[in-house]
Amino acid sequence: MATKPTKVTLTFDNDILPVELPILSGTLGNDVIDIRTLGNHGIYTYDPGFLSTASCNSNITFINGEKGLLYHRGYPIEQLAKNCDFLEVAHLLIQGELPNREQNKTFRTAVERHTMLHDQMNNVFRGFRRDAHPMAVMVSVVGAMAAFYPEHTDVSDPKLREKAAIRLLAKAPTIAAWSYKYTSGQPFMYPQNKLSFAENFLHMMFATPCEDYVVNPVVSKAFERILILHADHEQNASTSTVRLVGSSGANPFACIAAGIASLWGPAHGGANEATLKMLDEIGDISRIDDFIKRAKDKNDSFRLMGFGHRVYRNMDPRAAIMRETCHEVLNELGLNDDPMFKLAMRLEKIALEDDYFVKRKLYPNVDFYSGIVMRAMGIPNSMFTAIFALARTAGWIAQWHEMHTEPSNKIGRPRQLYTGEMKREFAPINDR
Ligand code: SDX
Repeated sequence: MATKPTKVTLTFDNDILPVELPILSGTLGNDVIDIRTLGNHGIYTYDPGFLSTASCNSNITFINGEKGLLYHRGYPIEQLAKNCDFLEVAHLLIQGELPNREQNKTFRTAVERHTMLHDQMNNVFRGFRRDAHPMAVMVSVVGAMAAFYPEHTDVSDPKLREKAAIRLLAKAPTIAAWSYKYTSGQPFMYPQNKLSFAENFLHMMFATPCEDYVVNPVVSKAFERILILHADHEQNASTSTVRLVGSSGANPFACIAAGIASLWGPAHGGANEATLKMLDEIGDISRIDDFIKRAKDKNDSFRLMGFGHRVYRNMDPRAAIMRETCHEVLNELGLNDDPMFKLAMRLEKIALEDDYFVKRKLYPNVDFYSGIVMRAMGIPNSMFTAIFALARTAGWIAQWHEMHTEPSNKIGRPRQLYTGEMKREFAPINDR
């Protein structure tokens, strides 16, 4: 096998002298050209959307897009989804290892101690109209946490960073569930610490003070898996947002609120809600071909939501697990003939045989199935991305914490290619 390159020499077709740049290798994945000194030679790189740019080094998650692999701290996602609960995976992401029995109990107890919100935070919810999108409420309430826990503005203290991580992990489900309850006009349900993480969220979402609510074990197990599959995913748009905001020393609540804001976009975490909206719009198998045609039409901004991925050029491994979970939940709830699921399966089959999608390696991603499973659970479309955000809070915190432990951590400040006006003189208004 050819030896790996250790450096590259850039030669220019003018009098700029050749520039030698080191090539760095990680433990897995592609090598990178270290261009940190390139600016000294008066030239920068240009890579809008960062398709070919590594923004950091990280030990948390590894994706191989060609082979459809996803590892968290080296463990394949398939093994974690099958054998763990969400808090175990959150511990793995944040602390670097799966917890032993004692660590598991300590971590769980720490989270349970922080599931309630400061009682005055109720008022933050009440400032919204009842029809506010849960993501608008979530981004605001998480950001407002900085006003209730001002000690966390000191991001240099690892103990305070760890406490902020526990607070965010513990309160995200309460904030997400209350964001929904507020819009539905139902009273907030307080966390029940005797329940598991998933059961607790479902309880806060669906229980009312009027009657007992028992979580279906198949549904809570499937929900735990949804949280695990959405927990972290390398330097995606929202995680890169959290890192960039965090690089200025901003407090953890502002950073996670920024991550929630970025995730909301339909090209990113909003895709699960957009996928269900699209399936509702298609409505019937007979209309699929029209939508496939629109997805291929360059003059039409419509895209097949739930398909394609910046990194995966093979099946998103999370989508395969989510598809299986879909079957389990629909079986359990007697929804196998659910027209939505049948329509989704038909759309998946047609798209995967269509040359346009095959050539561009546009496979179903995790969002294609997660929306269907959550709808089957009775979760409204508007809550899909809020649930994605509550799961991804574990990954965002882990990445934010890792960034602060990185010796080379500096404020993120990309360059640009300026294409505006050359220098020109001011003209008084009567001369314009
Ligand atoms: C998530 O980064 C992450 O890890 C994200 C995520 C995570 O866990 O954090 O995995 C979560 O965001 C999953 C992605 C969810 N988004 C969607 O399902 C929305 C639909 N997908 C597209 O918007 C798109 O596929 C993206 C945004 C996901 C990826 O876009 P890219 O990599 O920038 O691809 P591209 O826009 O360069 O498209 C390449 C080609 C183009 O056609 P050509 O110009 O080559 O002719 O594929 C086409 C695109 O038009 N294309 C699609 C398409 N996605 C890409 N055409 C129709 N439908 C689509 N969905």
